[in-house]
Amino acid sequence: MESSVASPLLDRLGRPVRDLRLSVTDRCNLRCRYCMPREVFGPEYAFLERDELLRFEELTRLARIFVGLGVRKLRLTGGEPLLRRDLPDLVAALSAIPAPTEDQPGLADLALTTNGVLLRRFAPALAEAGLRRITVSLDALDDATFRQLADTNAPVGTVLDGIVAAREAGLDPVKINCVLQRGVNDGRLEELAGWARDTGVTLRFIEFMDVGTTNGWLRDRMVPAAEVAERIAARWAIEPVEPTHHGEVAERYRYLDGAGEVGIIASVSRPFCGDCTRARLSAVGELYTCLFAARGTDLRALVRGGASDGELTAAVAAVWSARSDRASELRAEAGLSGPRVEMSYIGG
Ligand code: GTP
Ligand code: 5AD
Ligand code: SF4
Ligand code: SF4
Repeated sequence: MESSVASPLLDRLGRPVRDLRLSVTDRCNLRCRYCMPREVFGPEYAFLERDELLRFEELTRLARIFVGLGVRKLRLTGGEPLLRRDLPDLVAALSAIPAPTEDQPGLADLALTTNGVLLRRFAPALAEAGLRRITVSLDALDDATFRQLADTNAPVGTVLDGIVAAREAGLDPVKINCVLQRGVNDGRLEELAGWARDTGVTLRFIEFMDVGTTNGWLRDRMVPAAEVAERIAARWAIEPVEPTHHGEVAERYRYLDGAGEVGIIASVSRPFCGDCTRARLSAVGELYTCLFAARGTDLRALVRGGASDGELTAAVAAVWSARSDRASELRAEAGLSGPRVEMSYIGG
């Protein structure tokens, strides 16, 4: 494959492609109300069939094509990625992609987002296969709120133990994503932040977003970043941290007493489309250029139709060059309208 790029691939707003989020399944073992409400994602729901999913060789090949075009970071997502059989084999294949050098593109970072329920079982194999770090979604620390939010009988202790297992396996850092919803779990903001400080994990609060069309989003339910920062600052002394890289999603704050950092992802109140360098691939190989897009471009048809690496590279480059998405910036006061992909299908 031709891996060096003469001039960087930019979209119509001048943004390079730097991150690729790979969804490996649309299934999940939880039913978070804001993501996969059981009324919609119930026993009758038509999930993707196994042979529709990109095989690991296909995924790895596409990942290499994207890396050739400038992607430096890969993140495995779902649904719940740990439900995909033999996932550590995929991690091993992806982690074999060479690191970037001064004059060659390459893979600098490989991460995974999980709900943590199966983490105790898989953390050692993932780490051994070359996964470097992990992000766990966790919206509550008490059983009652966790079970209500995730619509599950699983105790929250399973996730907390998964986090311990990830750290024991050497995954570092372990980040925690917490979606705050007013009247649901926002009363526990300080408790969550205190727990993360004591545990030594990096917590990021995420504004509740109107992703997909089934989660009953209401603007009033979203707790704005400014309020989150104020509440943290009222309890602990913090100062803002400069972004470490262009296009960083989280606004970061450092605790002045040395207890690490806390982040806030303000996708609604302070959208970050201007720096958005993320591409997303669904589990069946559709390329989405925005989390709020209605449709993706079918790359699987090309892969299975015998396209060469050069043809695949050209197809991805054509999609990216035509990209002008900035949905969060354009979001009307009342929220987005029109069809858009579900979060569990595209992996957040
Ligand atoms: P790190 O590499 O750990 O810094 O990851 P990240 O900051 O990209 O965070 P992560 O991938 O865990 O994303 C956290 C959450 O932020 C996602 O699950 C989404 O909810 C939200 N998010 C991430 N990327 C985007 C984006 O491009 N647009 C919007 N609107 N939200 C995003
Ligand atoms: N708004 C904000 N974040 C969401 N997530 C899922 N649905 C939403 C939403 N509507 C988060 C999950 C997970 C990540 C993949 O996206 O909690 O951390
Ligand atoms: Fe599953 Fe994550 Fe969606 Fe919850 S937010 S239902 S854990 S994919
Ligand atoms: Fe990127 Fe779309 Fe999110 Fe804006 S709304 S940051 S363009 S994914």
